[in-house]
Amino acid sequence: SQIMKGGYDHYMQKEIHEQPESIFQTMRGRVSRMGAGADAAAGGERCIKLGGLAEHVEAMRSGRRIMFVACGTSYHATLAARQTVEDLVSIPVACELASDLLDRRCPIFRDDTCVFVSQSGETADTLAALEYAKARGALCVGITNTVGSAIARSTHCGVHINAGCEIGVASTKAYTSQIAVITMMALALSEDSISKRDKRNAIIDGLAELPEKIRQALKLDLEMRRLAGTLEGEQSLLVFGRGYNYATALEAALKVKEVALMHSEGILAGEMKHGPLALVDDTMPILAIATKDSMHPKMLSVIQQLLARGANLLVVCNEGDDDLEELCGSPDKRCSLIRVPQVVDCLQPIVNIVPLQLLSYHLTCLRGHNVDQPRNLAKAVTVN
Ligand code: G6P
Repeated sequence: SQIMKGGYDHYMQKEIHEQPESIFQTMRGRVSRMGAGADAAAGGERCIKLGGLAEHVEAMRSGRRIMFVACGTSYHATLAARQTVEDLVSIPVACELASDLLDRRCPIFRDDTCVFVSQSGETADTLAALEYAKARGALCVGITNTVGSAIARSTHCGVHINAGCEIGVASTKAYTSQIAVITMMALALSEDSISKRDKRNAIIDGLAELPEKIRQALKLDLEMRRLAGTLEGEQSLLVFGRGYNYATALEAALKVKEVALMHSEGILAGEMKHGPLALVDDTMPILAIATKDSMHPKMLSVIQQLLARGANLLVVCNEGDDDLEELCGSPDKRCSLIRVPQVVDCLQPIVNIVPLQLLSYHLTCLRGHNVDQPRNLAKAVTVN
């Protein structure tokens, strides 16, 4: 098994470090800009090919809504990419937890497209939701990492994320590849839109940069081990994010609870004053995601309020963010910056989660818990 882990101590660690390669495999043969640097820089056409969707693209574009259905980390991937689908495709987009969709017996119609996102392709709740949507005549699309899985077989069409086998129970590389695939799907669905052309080209260029940006983010490994040391004895960690990075907050918190076995909560920063602020004092560790996008001014103000209450802060920000360097840089502030490279706003969640995966990994090791098989959890939950 040491050989299987390729020199790493745990599968989760190996899979985190594999992400420059897994994200490349996800895009291979699908993103035309790749390897065509000069052409693209000269304004050449970029395009996305998702063979598995080809015949259904028209039906998806003219449908009334796109509904993503998933559980756990896969659900967070759908939240991370929802805004991109809304922006580019301009039809209503819903994200549903499979169990909740079934509990509510949520209305689904013939002109809906339901997209089932599952790393394993075998999760019982997601599969049951698929049968439910199929029975109501929706177009059912699968996004899985497992060729031949139940969800891949039962959907009308789909896309494999091609991230390679994921063994650690806590999903890492599948998450980043799922966000990339949903983004590519949004690009494929908006190919006919002239008004979205510049935005689409910027995103395609951003996709091509991802392997290198992730490689740079992985260099934070030692720093994340050090920061994990500051959290080791804590009871709880609050994680604040908004916009594209609300999902990052939820996913970082899920990683901390599922593997490090520490209470953690992902919180929409816009909801802070409606409750969570009551928890904030000088004993509460808080992680905030504040990379540069249209939410940045609002996140700065959130961070100011947290600092004013003496919070012990970790902040994910972009390299060269002068506002945050000034706000958090002085040694009297209890604030550490986690500086990640910048990419186009809708792909930033893919880069931002990388140091936070490393943080939860190191926190787990320090707290002495089982990294690859957390107690009570399974890689694929195949019973309802
Ligand atoms: C389990 C795993 C999670 C995973 C979830 C959904 O709970 O422990 O890591 O995110 O199932 O799995 P799926 O294979 O459907 O993506």
